Amino acid sequence: MKRASMMLVMIGAVIFGFAVLSAPKFGTMEDVKFSGKLWKALINANLVGKNAIGAVPYAAAIHKKILITLDSEVEVENHRGKVIVKKMFQGKNVSVESVANNPGENLAFVAVMFQREKGFDTKNQDWFYIRYDAKGRPTRNKKGMLMVGRFPKCISCHQAAPGGNYIYSFTR
Ligand code: HEC
Repeated sequence: MKRASMMLVMIGAVIFGFAVLSAPKFGTMEDVKFSGKLWKALINANLVGKNAIGAVPYAAAIHKKILITLDSEVEVENHRGKVIVKKMFQGKNVSVESVANNPGENLAFVAVMFQREKGFDTKNQDWFYIRYDAKGRPTRNKKGMLMVGRFPKCISCHQAAPGGNYIYSFTR
């Protein structure tokens, strides 16, 4: 190989290395800690937990699930931001009626988006994503990855939301 092309390969390798190192991380200890604080803020705001405010459940278009979606603002680590909470109800006999009557039953997951301080994820409007279980513990996907923080799949799909604000359900 000629010297010039060797140099190009080396420069390419260095750039690639930087790209890998600087790719946003997710599922870190920091993210998990933050998710615990966020869950507490959601309880205090009555968005989750025993005293959670109600909302009309609806059937999900794509999945066989019943959903309740709430939006609000909460403060975590001295930052106040938009939060959207999506409760996902699953089970054999789960229906819009059963969820309306017993919102404490059949809750499988709570997917949450919280808009963090500027700089958390500048390219993607600083959203922190998490999928909790019903008790507020972070969950993993089928590959065993913790779905907490700048989770690539949540980001890539929400990027496509029509309003350009990463949010599907509400128009702002
Ligand atoms: C394949 C695309 C896709 C992926 C992946 C995805 N979402 Fe969503 N999400 C949607 C769609 C579509 C809606 C609106 C319809 C609904 O409520 O299901 C939505 C709704 C939501 C909402 C309610 C606010 C809104 O935008 O309407 C939250 C919160 C949410 N998703 C969180 C998450 C989290 C957390 C993850 C990753 C763990 C995730 N989503 C992954 C497509 C996706």
